[in-house]
Amino acid sequence: MMKSFIVVLFWWTVSASHFHLNKPGCTWEQAREFCEKHYVDLAVLSTEEQYHRLQDDIPAQAGLVWLGLKRDNQQSDWKWVSNEELSYRYLRWYRKPDGFICGSLIAVVTEDRRLLGRNCEEPLSSVCQGPVGPQKASLESVGCDHVTVTWNVSASMRSVDHAYSVTMCGTTCDTFPVYYNHTDINHTSITINLPNLTSSSSYVMNITATVTRPDAATGKSTTLQSSTLTMPITTGRHYRRITYTTGVVCSLCMRVITCVFISPYSPPT
Ligand SMILES: *[C@@H]1O[C@H](CO)[C@@H](O)[C@H](O)[C@H]1NC(C)=O
Ligand SMILES: *[C@@H]1O[C@H](CO)[C@@H](O)[C@H](O)[C@H]1NC(C)=O
Ligand SMILES: *[C@@H]1O[C@H](CO)[C@@H](O)[C@H](O)[C@H]1NC(C)=O
Ligand SMILES: *[C@@H]1O[C@H](CO)[C@@H](O)[C@H](O)[C@H]1NC(C)=O
Ligand SMILES: *[C@@H]1O[C@H](CO)[C@@H](O)[C@H](O)[C@H]1NC(C)=O
Repeated sequence: MMKSFIVVLFWWTVSASHFHLNKPGCTWEQAREFCEKHYVDLAVLSTEEQYHRLQDDIPAQAGLVWLGLKRDNQQSDWKWVSNEELSYRYLRWYRKPDGFICGSLIAVVTEDRRLLGRNCEEPLSSVCQGPVGPQKASLESVGCDHVTVTWNVSASMRSVDHAYSVTMCGTTCDTFPVYYNHTDINHTSITINLPNLTSSSSYVMNITATVTRPDAATGKSTTLQSSTLTMPITTGRHYRRITYTTGVVCSLCMRVITCVFISPYSPPT
Protein backbone atom coordinates (compact mmCIF):
# COMPACT_ATOMS: atom_id res chain seq x y z
CA MET A 1 0.00 0.00 0.00
CA MET A 2 1.26 3.46 -0.78
CA LYS A 3 2.40 5.16 2.39
CA SER A 4 2.81 8.76 1.23
CA PHE A 5 -0.08 11.19 1.28
CA ILE A 6 -0.76 14.80 0.47
CA VAL A 7 1.25 17.20 2.61
CA VAL A 8 -1.14 18.95 4.91
CA LEU A 9 -0.65 22.60 5.81
CA PHE A 10 -2.65 24.88 8.06
CA TRP A 11 -5.28 26.88 6.42
CA TRP A 12 -7.04 28.26 9.42
CA THR A 13 -5.70 28.93 12.83
CA VAL A 14 -7.97 27.65 15.49
CA SER A 15 -7.58 30.10 18.34
CA ALA A 16 -8.02 27.57 21.13
CA SER A 17 -4.31 27.32 21.86
CA HIS A 18 -3.59 23.67 21.37
CA PHE A 19 -5.83 22.70 18.44
CA HIS A 20 -4.54 22.82 14.88
CA LEU A 21 -6.80 22.40 11.89
CA ASN A 22 -5.52 20.70 8.73
CA LYS A 23 -6.73 20.70 5.14
CA PRO A 24 -8.86 17.84 3.86
CA GLY A 25 -7.28 14.85 2.17
CA CYS A 26 -6.39 12.35 4.89
CA THR A 27 -8.01 9.17 6.04
CA TRP A 28 -8.36 8.79 9.81
CA GLU A 29 -5.10 6.79 10.05
CA GLN A 30 -3.15 9.23 7.88
CA ALA A 31 -4.46 12.17 9.89
CA ARG A 32 -3.40 10.48 13.11
CA GLU A 33 0.07 9.75 11.74
CA PHE A 34 0.43 13.39 10.73
CA CYS A 35 -0.73 14.68 14.12
CA GLU A 36 1.61 12.34 16.02
CA LYS A 37 4.52 13.48 13.92
CA HIS A 38 3.95 17.23 14.17
CA TYR A 39 1.88 17.66 17.34
CA VAL A 40 0.84 15.16 19.98
CA ASP A 41 -2.16 13.37 18.53
CA LEU A 42 -5.53 13.87 16.89
CA ALA A 43 -7.78 16.13 19.02
CA VAL A 44 -9.04 14.61 22.24
CA LEU A 45 -12.04 16.35 23.77
CA SER A 46 -12.09 14.69 27.17
CA THR A 47 -14.46 17.21 28.71
CA GLU A 48 -17.59 18.91 27.43
CA GLU A 49 -15.83 22.21 27.99
CA GLN A 50 -13.15 21.22 25.45
CA TYR A 51 -15.86 19.99 23.11
CA HIS A 52 -17.62 23.36 23.19
CA ARG A 53 -14.37 25.26 22.88
CA LEU A 54 -13.43 23.47 19.66
CA GLN A 55 -17.00 23.77 18.39
CA ASP A 56 -16.91 27.55 18.90
CA ASP A 57 -13.54 27.94 17.24
CA ILE A 58 -13.81 25.80 14.18
CA PRO A 59 -14.90 27.64 11.01
CA ALA A 60 -17.91 26.22 9.15
CA GLN A 61 -15.79 25.89 5.95
CA ALA A 62 -13.89 23.09 7.66
CA GLY A 63 -16.84 20.85 6.90
CA LEU A 64 -16.20 17.52 8.54
CA VAL A 65 -13.05 17.02 10.60
CA TRP A 66 -11.46 13.90 12.05
CA LEU A 67 -11.12 13.78 15.82
CA GLY A 68 -9.08 11.32 17.88
CA LEU A 69 -12.21 9.29 18.45
CA LYS A 70 -12.53 5.65 17.48
CA ARG A 71 -13.90 2.31 18.55
CA ASP A 72 -12.50 -1.18 17.99
CA ASN A 73 -15.60 -2.48 16.25
CA GLN A 74 -19.25 -1.62 15.74
CA GLN A 75 -20.23 -3.12 19.09
CA SER A 76 -17.57 -1.62 21.31
CA ASP A 77 -17.55 1.71 23.14
CA TRP A 78 -16.13 4.86 21.64
CA LYS A 79 -12.80 5.96 23.03
CA TRP A 80 -10.46 8.88 22.59
CA VAL A 81 -6.97 8.03 21.34
CA SER A 82 -5.77 8.89 24.86
CA ASN A 83 -7.76 5.83 26.02
CA GLU A 84 -10.32 7.99 27.82
CA GLU A 85 -13.99 7.16 27.39
CA LEU A 86 -16.36 9.39 25.49
CA SER A 87 -18.19 10.38 28.65
CA TYR A 88 -20.84 12.54 27.03
CA ARG A 89 -21.70 10.02 24.29
CA TYR A 90 -25.46 10.10 24.73
CA LEU A 91 -25.68 13.84 24.34
CA ARG A 92 -23.60 14.78 21.39
CA TRP A 93 -24.11 12.48 18.39
CA TYR A 94 -25.66 14.15 15.35
CA ARG A 95 -26.92 10.81 14.16
CA LYS A 96 -26.56 7.37 15.72
CA PRO A 97 -23.08 6.25 14.64
CA ASP A 98 -24.22 2.75 13.68
CA GLY A 99 -21.98 1.08 11.16
CA PHE A 100 -18.96 3.34 11.68
CA ILE A 101 -15.87 3.15 13.86
CA CYS A 102 -14.11 6.49 13.23
CA GLY A 103 -15.36 9.71 14.81
CA SER A 104 -15.59 13.18 13.27
CA LEU A 105 -17.07 16.55 14.13
CA ILE A 106 -19.36 18.45 11.76
CA ALA A 107 -18.37 22.11 11.65
CA VAL A 108 -21.23 23.26 9.40
CA VAL A 109 -23.99 22.26 11.76
CA THR A 110 -24.87 24.96 14.29
CA GLU A 111 -26.68 22.86 16.83
CA ASP A 112 -25.06 21.15 19.74
CA ARG A 113 -24.98 17.58 18.46
CA ARG A 114 -22.06 17.45 16.13
CA LEU A 115 -20.22 14.16 16.55
CA LEU A 116 -20.63 11.92 13.54
CA GLY A 117 -19.37 8.42 12.85
CA ARG A 118 -17.77 8.10 9.39
CA ASN A 119 -16.00 5.65 7.15
CA CYS A 120 -12.33 5.72 8.26
CA GLU A 121 -11.12 5.81 4.63
CA GLU A 122 -12.82 9.11 3.79
CA PRO A 123 -10.31 11.92 3.08
CA LEU A 124 -11.43 14.61 5.54
CA SER A 125 -9.94 17.63 7.29
CA SER A 126 -8.60 16.92 10.75
CA VAL A 127 -7.80 18.60 14.04
CA CYS A 128 -4.53 17.87 15.82
CA GLN A 129 -3.70 18.83 19.35
CA GLY A 130 -0.47 20.01 20.88
CA PRO A 131 0.83 19.36 24.39
CA VAL A 132 -1.60 19.39 27.32
CA GLY A 133 -0.19 20.65 30.61
CA PRO A 134 -1.35 19.70 34.08
CA GLN A 135 -4.88 20.82 34.92
CA LYS A 136 -4.01 21.18 38.55
CA ALA A 137 -1.08 20.61 40.88
CA SER A 138 -1.00 20.01 44.60
CA LEU A 139 1.52 20.69 47.31
CA GLU A 140 2.83 17.50 48.90
CA SER A 141 4.80 19.38 51.48
CA VAL A 142 5.70 22.93 52.29
CA GLY A 143 8.87 23.67 54.18
CA CYS A 144 10.67 26.84 55.07
CA ASP A 145 13.22 26.39 52.31
CA HIS A 146 11.52 24.03 49.87
CA VAL A 147 8.18 22.86 48.55
CA THR A 148 7.27 19.55 46.95
CA VAL A 149 4.76 19.75 44.14
CA THR A 150 2.93 16.93 42.39
CA TRP A 151 0.67 16.73 39.36
CA ASN A 152 -0.94 14.11 37.14
CA VAL A 153 0.28 13.67 33.59
CA SER A 154 -2.69 14.33 31.25
CA ALA A 155 -3.97 11.17 29.57
CA SER A 156 -2.97 12.33 26.08
CA MET A 157 0.59 13.01 27.23
CA ARG A 158 1.23 9.54 28.68
CA SER A 159 2.18 8.09 25.30
CA VAL A 160 4.78 10.70 24.35
CA ASP A 161 8.16 11.74 25.70
CA HIS A 162 7.82 15.31 26.81
CA ALA A 163 9.15 17.87 29.27
CA TYR A 164 7.80 20.36 31.76
CA SER A 165 9.24 23.70 32.52
CA VAL A 166 8.60 24.62 36.14
CA THR A 167 9.34 28.24 36.99
CA MET A 168 9.41 29.59 40.53
CA CYS A 169 9.40 33.35 40.74
CA GLY A 170 9.97 35.25 43.97
CA THR A 171 12.33 38.19 43.85
CA THR A 172 14.12 36.27 41.09
CA CYS A 173 13.03 33.35 38.90
CA ASP A 174 14.42 29.83 38.78
CA THR A 175 13.49 27.27 36.16
CA PHE A 176 13.49 23.54 36.81
CA PRO A 177 13.19 21.19 33.84
CA VAL A 178 11.42 17.84 34.30
CA TYR A 179 11.51 15.07 31.70
CA TYR A 180 8.82 12.48 31.17
CA ASN A 181 9.78 9.15 29.60
CA HIS A 182 6.64 7.48 28.25
CA THR A 183 8.11 3.96 28.29
CA ASP A 184 7.59 3.83 32.05
CA ILE A 185 3.92 2.87 32.10
CA ASN A 186 3.52 3.47 35.84
CA HIS A 187 4.65 7.02 35.47
CA THR A 188 1.31 8.77 35.67
CA SER A 189 2.22 11.58 38.01
CA ILE A 190 5.23 13.78 38.58
CA THR A 191 6.63 14.94 41.88
CA ILE A 192 9.31 17.58 42.05
CA ASN A 193 11.13 19.15 44.95
CA LEU A 194 11.84 22.85 44.59
CA PRO A 195 14.82 23.64 46.85
CA ASN A 196 16.64 26.73 48.08
CA LEU A 197 13.60 28.91 48.80
CA THR A 198 13.39 31.69 51.36
CA SER A 199 11.12 31.20 54.37
CA SER A 200 7.82 33.12 54.67
CA SER A 201 8.04 34.26 51.07
CA SER A 202 5.53 34.35 48.28
CA TYR A 203 6.31 32.73 44.97
CA VAL A 204 4.43 32.20 41.73
CA MET A 205 4.93 28.79 40.20
CA ASN A 206 4.26 28.20 36.49
CA ILE A 207 4.15 24.76 34.91
CA THR A 208 4.14 24.36 31.11
CA ALA A 209 4.35 21.10 29.17
CA THR A 210 6.46 21.05 25.99
CA VAL A 211 7.14 18.65 23.12
CA THR A 212 9.66 19.02 20.33
CA ARG A 213 8.44 18.16 16.85
CA PRO A 214 9.20 18.95 13.21
CA ASP A 215 7.18 22.02 12.22
CA ALA A 216 4.27 21.10 9.93
CA ALA A 217 5.12 23.81 7.39
CA THR A 218 8.93 24.11 7.42
CA GLY A 219 10.00 20.70 8.74
CA LYS A 220 12.42 22.37 11.16
CA SER A 221 12.38 21.19 14.73
CA THR A 222 10.17 23.33 16.93
CA THR A 223 9.07 23.24 20.56
CA LEU A 224 5.35 23.37 21.21
CA GLN A 225 4.02 24.56 24.54
CA SER A 226 0.84 23.84 26.43
CA SER A 227 -1.06 26.52 28.26
CA THR A 228 0.49 27.40 31.62
CA LEU A 229 -0.74 26.35 35.02
CA THR A 230 -0.05 29.14 37.49
CA MET A 231 -0.12 28.64 41.23
CA PRO A 232 0.83 30.95 44.12
CA ILE A 233 2.97 29.34 46.83
CA THR A 234 4.02 30.70 50.21
CA THR A 235 6.86 29.01 52.05
CA GLY A 236 6.67 28.20 55.75
CA ARG A 237 7.77 30.50 58.48
CA HIS A 238 10.76 29.78 60.67
CA TYR A 239 9.54 30.21 64.20
CA ARG A 240 12.72 29.58 65.99
CA ARG A 241 16.27 28.49 65.51
CA ILE A 242 17.88 26.75 68.45
CA THR A 243 21.56 26.14 68.69
CA TYR A 244 22.75 23.62 71.22
CA THR A 245 26.30 23.79 72.45
CA THR A 246 26.64 20.09 71.72
CA GLY A 247 26.94 20.69 67.99
CA VAL A 248 23.28 20.24 67.11
CA VAL A 249 21.35 23.03 65.41
CA CYS A 250 17.59 22.76 65.38
CA SER A 251 15.02 24.93 63.72
CA LEU A 252 11.29 24.97 63.97
CA CYS A 253 9.56 25.34 60.65
CA MET A 254 5.78 25.15 60.62
CA ARG A 255 5.24 22.51 63.29
CA VAL A 256 8.28 20.44 62.40
CA ILE A 257 11.59 20.60 64.18
CA THR A 258 14.60 19.77 62.03
CA CYS A 259 17.96 19.18 63.61
CA VAL A 260 21.35 18.88 61.98
CA PHE A 261 24.60 17.76 63.50
CA ILE A 262 27.46 20.06 62.76
CA SER A 263 31.06 19.08 63.21
CA PRO A 264 32.25 19.84 66.70
CA TYR A 265 34.06 23.12 66.92
CA SER A 266 37.78 22.60 66.97
CA PRO A 267 39.72 25.72 67.86
CA PRO A 268 42.57 26.55 65.53
CA THR A 269 45.84 25.40 66.89
C1 LIG B 1 -4.33 12.64 40.27
O1 LIG B 1 -5.20 11.59 39.95
C2 LIG B 1 -5.71 10.92 41.10
C3 LIG B 1 -6.51 9.71 40.63
O2 LIG B 1 -7.14 9.94 39.43
C4 LIG B 1 -6.55 11.90 41.92
O3 LIG B 1 -7.07 11.26 43.07
C5 LIG B 1 -5.67 13.06 42.34
O4 LIG B 1 -6.42 14.04 43.03
C6 LIG B 1 -5.02 13.70 41.13
N1 LIG B 1 -4.03 14.67 41.59
C7 LIG B 1 -3.94 15.91 41.11
C8 LIG B 1 -2.87 16.78 41.68
O5 LIG B 1 -4.68 16.32 40.23
C1 LIG C 1 13.25 6.04 28.28
O1 LIG C 1 13.47 4.85 29.02
C2 LIG C 1 13.90 3.75 28.21
C3 LIG C 1 13.95 2.51 29.10
O2 LIG C 1 14.37 2.81 30.39
C4 LIG C 1 15.26 4.11 27.60
O3 LIG C 1 15.71 3.05 26.80
C5 LIG C 1 15.09 5.38 26.75
O4 LIG C 1 16.34 5.78 26.22
C6 LIG C 1 14.51 6.52 27.59
N1 LIG C 1 14.21 7.64 26.70
C7 LIG C 1 14.61 8.88 26.96
C8 LIG C 1 14.23 9.92 25.97
O5 LIG C 1 15.30 9.16 27.93
C1 LIG D 1 3.58 -1.00 37.65
O1 LIG D 1 2.65 -1.07 38.73
C2 LIG D 1 2.10 -2.36 38.91
C3 LIG D 1 1.03 -2.28 39.99
O2 LIG D 1 1.29 -1.27 40.90
C4 LIG D 1 3.23 -3.34 39.29
O3 LIG D 1 2.71 -4.64 39.47
C5 LIG D 1 4.27 -3.34 38.16
O4 LIG D 1 5.36 -4.15 38.52
C6 LIG D 1 4.77 -1.93 37.86
N1 LIG D 1 5.61 -1.95 36.69
C7 LIG D 1 6.77 -1.31 36.61
C8 LIG D 1 7.50 -1.42 35.31
O5 LIG D 1 7.21 -0.62 37.52
C1 LIG E 1 20.75 24.80 46.49
O1 LIG E 1 21.75 25.36 47.30
C2 LIG E 1 22.85 24.49 47.54
C3 LIG E 1 23.76 25.13 48.54
O2 LIG E 1 23.74 26.52 48.48
C4 LIG E 1 23.53 24.22 46.20
O3 LIG E 1 24.62 23.33 46.39
C5 LIG E 1 22.54 23.57 45.27
O4 LIG E 1 23.11 23.39 43.98
C6 LIG E 1 21.30 24.44 45.11
N1 LIG E 1 20.32 23.69 44.35
C7 LIG E 1 19.70 24.21 43.30
C8 LIG E 1 18.79 23.29 42.58
O5 LIG E 1 19.83 25.38 42.97
C1 LIG F 1 3.64 32.77 34.73
O1 LIG F 1 2.33 32.66 34.20
C2 LIG F 1 1.61 33.87 34.20
C3 LIG F 1 0.19 33.59 33.74
O2 LIG F 1 0.09 32.49 32.92
C4 LIG F 1 2.33 34.85 33.26
O3 LIG F 1 1.65 36.09 33.26
C5 LIG F 1 3.76 35.04 33.74
O4 LIG F 1 4.47 35.86 32.85
C6 LIG F 1 4.47 33.69 33.86
N1 LIG F 1 5.80 33.90 34.43
C7 LIG F 1 6.88 33.29 33.96
C8 LIG F 1 8.16 33.59 34.63
O5 LIG F 1 6.83 32.52 33.02
